[in-house]
Amino acid sequence: MGNLEKSNKLKDSGKPGESEAPTKSLESMESSEEPKKFYIHTFGCQMNVHDSEILGGFLEDLGYREAAGVEDTDILIMNTCAIRQKAEAKVFGMIGKLKKLKREKPHLIIGVCGCMAQQEGTAKKIKARYPHVDLVFGTHNVHRFPHLLKEAEESRETVLDIWPEGKEVVEGLPISRKGGIKAWVTITYGCNNFCAYCVVPYVRGREQSREMSNIVTEVEGLASKGYKEVTLLGQNVNSYGKDLDKSITFALLLEKLDSITGLERIRYMTSHPRDFSRELTEVIYRSEKVCEHFHLPIQSGSNKILGKMNRGYTREHYLEVVSYIRELIPHSSITTDFIVGFPGETREDFSDTLEILERVRFDTSYSFVFSPRKGTLAADMPGQIPAAEKKERLLKLNETQNRISREINEALRGTVMDVLVEGFSRENPSVLTGRTRTNKLVNFKGEKEMIGKIIPVKINDVKTWSLDGEALS
Ligand code: SAH
Ligand code: SF4
Ligand code: F3S
Repeated sequence: MGNLEKSNKLKDSGKPGESEAPTKSLESMESSEEPKKFYIHTFGCQMNVHDSEILGGFLEDLGYREAAGVEDTDILIMNTCAIRQKAEAKVFGMIGKLKKLKREKPHLIIGVCGCMAQQEGTAKKIKARYPHVDLVFGTHNVHRFPHLLKEAEESRETVLDIWPEGKEVVEGLPISRKGGIKAWVTITYGCNNFCAYCVVPYVRGREQSREMSNIVTEVEGLASKGYKEVTLLGQNVNSYGKDLDKSITFALLLEKLDSITGLERIRYMTSHPRDFSRELTEVIYRSEKVCEHFHLPIQSGSNKILGKMNRGYTREHYLEVVSYIRELIPHSSITTDFIVGFPGETREDFSDTLEILERVRFDTSYSFVFSPRKGTLAADMPGQIPAAEKKERLLKLNETQNRISREINEALRGTVMDVLVEGFSRENPSVLTGRTRTNKLVNFKGEKEMIGKIIPVKINDVKTWSLDGEALS
């Protein structure tokens, strides 16, 4: 399909309210043909990783196979992220480079989806600047992918289909999961929090919980297929169920999932410190499978900045949450996210952040420099911090965190930890790799037969970001 010359047209295919069942009715490829291949490049967080698993599921149902790389594929999808400027720049860089490939392989279908595509104006920008893209769709209509793909294949024009919002949760989509050991399971879509810096509520829409029975059925199915671990996904898992029946809460969901036979570990992300409760910590304490890892993004240690960020908690509240977690489950790990250089962040505010890091002693943290996102409150706030200052603060924060992470890991030397073995390490294929319940990455010497099992590992050496050891059985 030599459609490089096509004129792009905004198509009105499908309305946001339509909750269509996924379709498998498209003709599968004829068996005599070499199967066509797909390649999905996923940017951003686990929400996108999971959406890519759905796109992969649709494509496999249509008879496609996964390609080894960009050069080898018939369909190339970029599932994009808009969280920071850098993430967007990477996507535009990749789209630009694909122009040459499309010229050489005119039948290649190029698609762009995800959070960036959902942002107002981006689809039109792609249409205007990158006519070699065949299909652009957003986050609310992933379930229509087979229809959109067919349109893109048949059309000489770029198909653009962005829904302003999603209406109902669509169940029963095919999911192509890899590895057979760990699975992502969405429990809520969207976010209602509108933190002042964050683009997610604009690109993922309002919070919607999946029915508890659907989640339980999905996890039971995974356990019966041999999956050992599930991670429950939502932008704020603690608000799970608020839009459902009054009796449905995140704590109740954890209790239900904890009783599923065969499943070994339950994780969840992300928790909002405002909505975290002692009651939930008690449920986790009583549970068998919910892991002792708490990822609680604090963002800043300054009450002034937390207020401006619209986070809805104070540093005192955060410290109280940490104190009851450590009181009830002393060996748990606590990790966090920080944003440095939020508008108006003075040196004193930044010192408060360093101080809370020293006080809580997070196992690890993910730190970002504030990136103004168009349409968010913070983008236009006065007191924007110069890039060099933001970078300097980030370096200081990382330096402090790395020292603390190393010290915490040092205390684990010589201990024995249960590791869910995921496979051979990509960096060093002669060692196995896996994670502890506290989410520490462990590389160790062991046998292939250990993959998929929980194995006690003696920790012989420690690094800032990982542990090294040897299997004891
Ligand atoms: N829902 C999760 C976070 C999702 S985004 C929560 O509330 O914790 C992941 C992380 O990206 C955030 O925790 C924040 O630290 C960072 N982030 C989000 N928007 C950002 C921005 N505009 N600039 C820099 N970092 C940002
Ligand atoms: Fe963004 Fe805040 Fe929602 Fe997290 S809780 S996704 S940071 S708006
Ligand atoms: Fe990025 Fe969208 Fe996730 S903006 S961080 S991929 S929800």
